[in-house]
Amino acid sequence: MSLTTVHTVADLRAAVADWRAKGLRIALVPTMGALHDGHVSLTKLAREHADRVIVSIFVNPTQFGPNEDFSAYPRTLPTDQKLLDEAGVELCFAPSVDEMYPDGFATKVAVDGAMTNVLCGAARPGHFDGVAQVVTKLLLQAMPDCAIFGQKDYQQLMVIRRFSADLNIPVKIIGAKIQREADGLAMSSRNRYLTTSERAIAPTLNRVLGSITAEAVKGTELGPLLAKGREDILSAGFDPIDYLEVRDAQTLELISDKVEKPARIFVAARLGKARLIDNHAINPDVSDA
Ligand code: PAJ
Repeated sequence: MSLTTVHTVADLRAAVADWRAKGLRIALVPTMGALHDGHVSLTKLAREHADRVIVSIFVNPTQFGPNEDFSAYPRTLPTDQKLLDEAGVELCFAPSVDEMYPDGFATKVAVDGAMTNVLCGAARPGHFDGVAQVVTKLLLQAMPDCAIFGQKDYQQLMVIRRFSADLNIPVKIIGAKIQREADGLAMSSRNRYLTTSERAIAPTLNRVLGSITAEAVKGTELGPLLAKGREDILSAGFDPIDYLEVRDAQTLELISDKVEKPARIFVAARLGKARLIDNHAINPDVSDA
């Protein structure tokens, strides 16, 4: 079966209804396009859980801040379609902004509390409300059995788990491992903003997270580890660092002394035009996946 692309909710629902009538299981992989092997790995995991895989491609304006890269965000639909076809994906849903947010659209989905005020939520006010709004819509438009999200955006995955449970959205949320380049850089659509020399510096983030994690699992005090990590990131050429923090893997509460439970170390830092994020598990917790 080759890839079909639809642009309207009505056409998406018609395809899904046809599969439902045949008793097929359906997985959704939401993306903003500019697809890379990280996204492809999500479609592979989707295939393990479903008979039909839908990938949505929508650069969602409501999750970008006024000074962020919404207009510059890479839009590469023909290349993305080729990649999805090769990956064996059945359906690409690529709606327009008007299809998602028609005139008169007035509804927000906001996730309160500790989980959205920290990390990227502090650095990007309103970002997770935009993510919650669009992912709620995508889940209700497609009504798949499951939806796959990467741990690359770990806080996003936790926020999505929160609101889909709170709103009783009957879709299983599945987390997928971070895919990395050979030198350890986490794959990201934003890596294409990097110049050649920045690209050579970029794997520093993964390296620093790796060495802090190796020490933290031994019960070493985090303060000096994080201070040294910040120094290494800044001296590599990143500026500024939005955050370098260790948090509880489930609640995202800050851990400032020693790691004694499943935790995660998170970093976000700017390198030239790109804001890069990454994270590692400390005392891995299988329930994240
Ligand atoms: P986007 O950045 O395109 O990412 C789509 C999905 O791919 C997310 O679940 C993300 O975590 C996952 N992903 C990206 N890079 C990855 C990597 N290196 N390894 C594993 N998974 C990776 O995240 C979004 O889009 C949007 O916020 C979205 C959820 C689509 C809502 O607009």
